[in-house]
Amino acid sequence: MRRLALTLAATVAVIGLSACGKSGGSSGSETAAAPEAAPAAAPEPTDAEKQALLAALPAPYNTGDLAHGKQVFAVCKSCHTIVPGGANMTGPNLYGMFGRKPGMAEGYKYSEVVKAATFTWDAEHLDQWLTSPKTFMPGTKMSFVGVKDAKDRVDLIAYLKVETGYKPQ
Ligand code: HEC
Repeated sequence: MRRLALTLAATVAVIGLSACGKSGGSSGSETAAAPEAAPAAAPEPTDAEKQALLAALPAPYNTGDLAHGKQVFAVCKSCHTIVPGGANMTGPNLYGMFGRKPGMAEGYKYSEVVKAATFTWDAEHLDQWLTSPKTFMPGTKMSFVGVKDAKDRVDLIAYLKVETGYKPQ
């Protein structure tokens, strides 16, 4: 957790340097060890950086339509935030989810089945989860029917990767 926060903060800081005039993020690197503090201080990636991240995703996500993914995400928004340090609502904040185990959002009370899951969130697992959460993980308390269209899921997953601080390996 701590290492992830540091890595994220460092990477975002590096991206920030090449970006617009937004600065002031680097002074926060000491406090970056605190999971709540670090993401809040992270500068937003620019649109150009988001496009670069998108292009670096493995196929088919590199051809994802971010604008459409954002539209698909509208159905998630009543329950989830995706910004750094965003609130847990009915569902957990999703920032930083890729590359970590299910059930890790700070301060969120997950169902037993999600807490017990041992896989790591990646595009493939998320694709199955989003197709039908209750089929993929019987017992989950995510009351959501699923995103049935495969292309909608590609665009949504690409959007989530770009927006939630995913870093290519
Ligand atoms: C009606 C509310 C609701 C909607 C709509 C919803 N979710 Fe969820 N989501 C939840 C809840 C509740 C959980 C916690 C599940 C559990 O603990 O069993 C969750 C968990 C998750 C997780 C696991 C997070 C983790 O930290 O392991 C992901 C990923 C996720 N949702 C993505 C989405 C996406 C993407 C959408 C939109 C397509 C969506 N959800 C729509 C309520 C919702």
